[in-house]
Amino acid sequence: MYYCMAKLIFVALLFCSFLSVSEQQYTPDWTSLDTRPLPRWYDESKIGIFLHWGLYSVPAISSEWMWWNWQGTNPVESIVAYMEKNYPPDWTYANFGPQFRADLYDPNEWADLFAASGAKYVVLTSKHHEGYAMWPSTFNFNWNSMHVGPKRDLLGDLAAAIRNRTNLVFGLYYSLFEWFNPVYLQDKSNNFTTQYFPETKTLPELRELIETYKPEIVWSDGEWEARDTYWNATQFLAWLYNESPVKDTVVVNDRWGSELLCKHGDFYTCLDRFNPGYLIEHKWENAFTIDKRAWAYRPTANIEDYMTIEELLKEVVTTISTGGNALVNVGPNMHGKIPPIFQERLRQMGSWLQVNGEAIYATKPWEYQNDTINPNVWYTSSQDNRFVYAFLLIWPKDSNEIILGAPLSSSRTIVTLLGSNADSVPWRVASGDRGIVIDVSAIKLHLLQSEWTWTFKLENISG
Ligand SMILES: *[C@@H]1O[C@H](CO)[C@@H](O)[C@H](O)[C@H]1NC(C)=O
Ligand SMILES: *[C@@H]1O[C@H](CO)[C@@H](O)[C@H](O)[C@H]1NC(C)=O
Ligand SMILES: *[C@@H]1O[C@H](CO)[C@@H](O)[C@H](O)[C@H]1NC(C)=O
Ligand SMILES: *[C@@H]1O[C@H](CO)[C@@H](O)[C@H](O)[C@H]1NC(C)=O
Repeated sequence: MYYCMAKLIFVALLFCSFLSVSEQQYTPDWTSLDTRPLPRWYDESKIGIFLHWGLYSVPAISSEWMWWNWQGTNPVESIVAYMEKNYPPDWTYANFGPQFRADLYDPNEWADLFAASGAKYVVLTSKHHEGYAMWPSTFNFNWNSMHVGPKRDLLGDLAAAIRNRTNLVFGLYYSLFEWFNPVYLQDKSNNFTTQYFPETKTLPELRELIETYKPEIVWSDGEWEARDTYWNATQFLAWLYNESPVKDTVVVNDRWGSELLCKHGDFYTCLDRFNPGYLIEHKWENAFTIDKRAWAYRPTANIEDYMTIEELLKEVVTTISTGGNALVNVGPNMHGKIPPIFQERLRQMGSWLQVNGEAIYATKPWEYQNDTINPNVWYTSSQDNRFVYAFLLIWPKDSNEIILGAPLSSSRTIVTLLGSNADSVPWRVASGDRGIVIDVSAIKLHLLQSEWTWTFKLENISG
């Protein structure tokens, strides 16, 4: 009886909280849209995988900007020369279409790799600035992966594999504009006083993507030439938040019109590879690439173009310490294989997160983001404030002591090292009124489970 009543009350509460989420209606203006609470899963996830894969993965000689660099308003000489040397004179970008076969694409293999990486979400380029769609778009006749090239719904197959095999959230990147689309160019020559392109292409296509694949991230891009009013961005977002099939869980970035970066959206991206090094109060994301010079796959890359695992973890840790999420980009090749160098980095990250994940997932920034004395130390805190995590980027070669300037210790302070089988690590109070000195002389590096970016877990510490 008591149990039944309690259960009834519980159900009623659930129902009410459900209503309060769904009842909230947003009006198509930033003042209203900006009041939307960030769906919790996004902040807790911390790490996602970004995929730049499209028709540009076929020529692949510079980056995903190849077509523009070849035939845009300021052609890059080396690319023009490369095309002249290696292709017939009448070759067009569209001729690459049939060469895109994705013949080795196994989305299950991708899904398993992403799960092993420790990332919690995936963002695939559904369409980049070239306009080629990775799904059978109703609004992109003869310029999508079902009609030209692989003859396959590449996007839908990845969504299914991710959802069948992993707990990762599925998200989509979408470029609002298209370099050479004549309808877009017509609006552009009208100084964006007409909206033929958003009305016949962008908005219906975005809606089709969301209704068909239910992405829980809409990562917009290619917004910068026109204002949000041209893109009908606020109208679209009000529909997304009020009525779409992902209205309660979806998150979007800040790229919805020129001059909006770092101003609106569930999370800010500001610039590519944004990583300010200090706390940003509004949720933000650092999208960066393991190949430091391109987002898409390039056979032209050399080994030094790829981030080492140490560089990658530094990027991840500094981002999360300052309130960001890390979106780690890899470029699959035209066959649909993720090259081994990317596989290795992602699996290394996963092995690191196996040991250090409690200092990453669902944490929050601490009072100090980086240490006041030690430039190689960054912090996070557990949600309940019980633990502070200190990430050490470089293990000292010439000392058995690690000095931390920020923590205020007490007699109850306990220091442990994640991935070590020792119960605790000795420490003493630093000279001065704060800080601790950790004594690592007894730690055998070769016995630690983690080889890079070590995490000290501090209990009973204040800032
Ligand atoms: C995903 O699961 C569904 C239902 O079990 C199945 O029909 C489908 O073939 C699976 N897709 C993949 C890509 O494994
Ligand atoms: C284009 O429109 C903007 C306002 O949206 C205006 O500032 C600018 O002067 C216009 N340019 C031309 C060439 O008409
Ligand atoms: C764009 O917004 C305008 C103004 O609210 C509206 O009249 C129009 O129908 C919208 N277009 C689309 C395609 O949503
Ligand atoms: C780290 O913290 C100090 C203050 O203690 C600050 O001066 C410095 O700019 C911070 N950021 C980085 C990236 O080191």
